[in-house]
Amino acid sequence: MRVVCIGAGYVGSVTGAAFAALGYQTTVIDIDQSKVQAINEGKSPIFEPGLDTLIKTYAGVTLNASVEYDAVTEADVVFIGVGTPSRPDGSADLKYIEGAAINIAKYIKPDGYTVIVNKSTVPVGTAEHVSAIVEEHSGLKSNVHFSIISNPEFLREGYAVEDVFLPDRIVIGTLNERARTIMRELYSKLVDLEQPYEIIRQLGFNPQRESGLPVYFETDTRSAEMIKYASNAFLAVKISYINEVARLCEAMQANVLDVSKGMGLDSRIGNKFLQVSSGWSGSCFPKDTAEFLAASRKHGRELNVVKAAMESNLEMHAYIVEKVKKKLGTLYGKTIGVLGLTFKPNTDDTRHTQASFIIRGMINQGASVKVHDPQGMEMFHVFNPNLAVTYCHAAEEVADQADAIVLLTHWEDYALLKWSDMGSRMNHKYVLDTRNFLSVGMMNQLGYHYEGIGIGN
Ligand code: UGA
Repeated sequence: MRVVCIGAGYVGSVTGAAFAALGYQTTVIDIDQSKVQAINEGKSPIFEPGLDTLIKTYAGVTLNASVEYDAVTEADVVFIGVGTPSRPDGSADLKYIEGAAINIAKYIKPDGYTVIVNKSTVPVGTAEHVSAIVEEHSGLKSNVHFSIISNPEFLREGYAVEDVFLPDRIVIGTLNERARTIMRELYSKLVDLEQPYEIIRQLGFNPQRESGLPVYFETDTRSAEMIKYASNAFLAVKISYINEVARLCEAMQANVLDVSKGMGLDSRIGNKFLQVSSGWSGSCFPKDTAEFLAASRKHGRELNVVKAAMESNLEMHAYIVEKVKKKLGTLYGKTIGVLGLTFKPNTDDTRHTQASFIIRGMINQGASVKVHDPQGMEMFHVFNPNLAVTYCHAAEEVADQADAIVLLTHWEDYALLKWSDMGSRMNHKYVLDTRNFLSVGMMNQLGYHYEGIGIGN
């Protein structure tokens, strides 16, 4: 079976490398020559732990990349993994999906059958929309020469390689039997865990699976598309909820670490996604909640819970700024060191990161801000070119003359910092750890005024 992945971004490059590792001849197509060149030279076009090694192992063997769409003609399965940015009203802009569909239509084999798979997160109804585009531009018939199906991806950035080989679930949306048979065959190597485990171990990962075999779940296209949005929005709601509970813990002298642990012991609730933060962010949750809310409004069924979670999330960002201000009396004229710009560790992604809201909030109140991130400084600068911050190449430098250090992203590097030396560089030894990540005992022993979030007692 031959596979094509359109898009060498996060979805396409991880999916492409995974199918190549499973033994399928795979071509990744992207208009960006530098990404194509990177893959063909055995390098990852994005920062994602393990992906470099995976691409290096299979490039030129089962994996190759191209700017041309020729490989579509020979393909049995074509994945679309291009971006779906937000429009100003929150709805998803499908211009890249539509462009990919037109190009696929030009190259699709006229005398065979191709499965075209929407892997990007796309609004409900997109499979039908793509189907109409391919029909119009190829003159071929849907469900005779090709079928469009929905197969949303559930990879987490930073853990994408592990997630792609050991997923909890594989959701396939199509009612077409021929497409279902092809997808079952394609995914059979993932559903049988032996080969994926072996690949993951060879990459140096030590996966701890709690859930065993992935569940292969078949449904119609619209439900599959909805599953992706409903899942991401649910997780965002869960985090907003624990973050609100954390704020209440501070007001009512309770400890959110114990509260979330105690809640998570109920298997109906589960212990995941109950970690307090300065708010959720990244390239998925903000975009997907916005699109889901916009779609619900369009259909006269506004998702009140999702709307509240989004508002609560912005309040959480603002709460961090206020907490530092309250501690220092004012932010005006103060120097704040920020550790962590990416929306979470193990990624260089700073799209929609909470750091930009929080830093902007502090600067607007007159603070000077020094920042550090192990991977994200370049991208942060690209997305926030006018934000007047000082970029520090060593994490220790954010401490120089700082009135406070605010830890926003729990990079392992920050736990390993020489905190014993950091304090002597600061004006005022105050650390706000928005992830409750550092050792309280160590920070107190070193004489810091150390605060987490939601620790009210
Ligand atoms: C999310 C989903 O978890 C994936 O299943 C999905 O495939 C992906 O979006 C996507 O749609 O492509 P991702 O955005 O990589 O993955 O990041 P998460 O690990 O879900 O974290 C999102 C945000 O929530 C981060 O800012 C993170 O720090 C925050 N978070 C997460 C918390 O504040 N607390 C938690 O307990 C967990």
